Amino acid sequence: MGSSDKEHFDEYAYQNKIKHIIFQNYFAVYAKIISTRWKTNVFLIDGFAGRGHYGNPDEDQAFAGSPILALQALARDAQLGTRVQTWFIEKDADHFDNLEQSVNSFVKINKGIRKPILTNGEFVETLQPILDEIEDGGGGIKPTLLFVDPCGISGVGFGTISSILKKPRCELLLFFNYDGVSRTMGLLRTDRDTPSLTELFGSSDRVEHLRGIAQSDMKPREKEDAVIAAYIQALRDDARADFVVPFRVEYEHRQATSHYLIHASKHSLPFKIMKDMMWEVSRDENWEGSLELLQASKGTVHDFLRSDLAEVDRQIVEALSGGRILSVGEIIEDFPEDPGNLYSRGCYRRRLLQLEASGKIVVLDEDRETVLPPGKRRKSRDSKTKKQVPTIAQRLFVRLS
Ligand SMILES: C[S@@+](CC[C@H](N)C(=O)[O-])C[C@H]1O[C@@H](n2cnc3c(N)ncnc32)[C@H](O)[C@@H]1O
Repeated sequence: MGSSDKEHFDEYAYQNKIKHIIFQNYFAVYAKIISTRWKTNVFLIDGFAGRGHYGNPDEDQAFAGSPILALQALARDAQLGTRVQTWFIEKDADHFDNLEQSVNSFVKINKGIRKPILTNGEFVETLQPILDEIEDGGGGIKPTLLFVDPCGISGVGFGTISSILKKPRCELLLFFNYDGVSRTMGLLRTDRDTPSLTELFGSSDRVEHLRGIAQSDMKPREKEDAVIAAYIQALRDDARADFVVPFRVEYEHRQATSHYLIHASKHSLPFKIMKDMMWEVSRDENWEGSLELLQASKGTVHDFLRSDLAEVDRQIVEALSGGRILSVGEIIEDFPEDPGNLYSRGCYRRRLLQLEASGKIVVLDEDRETVLPPGKRRKSRDSKTKKQVPTIAQRLFVRLS
């Protein structure tokens, strides 16, 4: 076990809190949608489950880890509690003992939830034989949210991940340790072998592609983008997961990337929901939000300098050119549906309000004619800026001024 695996649980870093908010909120929504819409049971596989808590539970300073957060979400909803089967896999024996205790105590006082399956073993070794059986039998598996949350980069078998992800209604949330990948890629400038990269990317051809990136004269950020694009392409190629959201997490004390949280699915709805959730955790009173958690560089970048938001504005204005009238719903729901679109629905909503405030567009009533200025619409309180802002319902329309 790497020292980072041992020390990981001593301190509850802000980025862990953010990861947990995204994981718990998304899991609750995923399980609810799948189980009610498809009337089927659901699986959560937490492949790198950890020890159940961060900090010291005996000293009342503990923060729930992913397994307990998942169980809490299930305990809050009687129907979900019976519909979702959780499976927690943890390799380290000490962590596993802690995990077992935490889970058992939780289940003892929350009897409405299904008994979790706990395995003290390695992610790939635990899952691969079962997957092979499923493949051989030609059957499917229950819709599954697979959470892969390692500290480093080893043990994250691409084949195992894609065997699950490619099945209907199965999704992935992955902690992709970019810093670890980037350091290991240093070996690709020499002739040294990199089995961990082959395991992570799923083939030696892909590692050769990474070698090309490592040996190129691209700038560091271009290399990073190329590596993430290569991983996303691998998910699309092998698991047919066309909808992938990469959420970049910066180090707390260094203006460099620590890791990405990557969500992959085969449908636009989960893609949009996940983008909304990731975007919201990065948004605050001074920052519109983005698919990244800025820590060390927070405060050094400003919304008014953002070319990406200007790009969203241009996209909206162009869609309305030539006198076209579109419903708010068409803009907020349809644009973010494109697999290449990395903006949230809330971002589109706020950009519409911004374009209206700057006099570029007007909002029309349902008759598509009557102008409805902000003063004639209801206001609501923005949860991040705490300001009262005009609402802009999806049934309304917009056109250029
Ligand atoms: C980042 S921690 C997991 C944290 C946990 N998901 C949470 O949010 O509470 C990574 C865990 O994976 C375990 N681990 C490392 N390699 C593993 C493997 N190949 N299979 C299963 N568990 C592994 C480590 O012992 C460690 O407890």
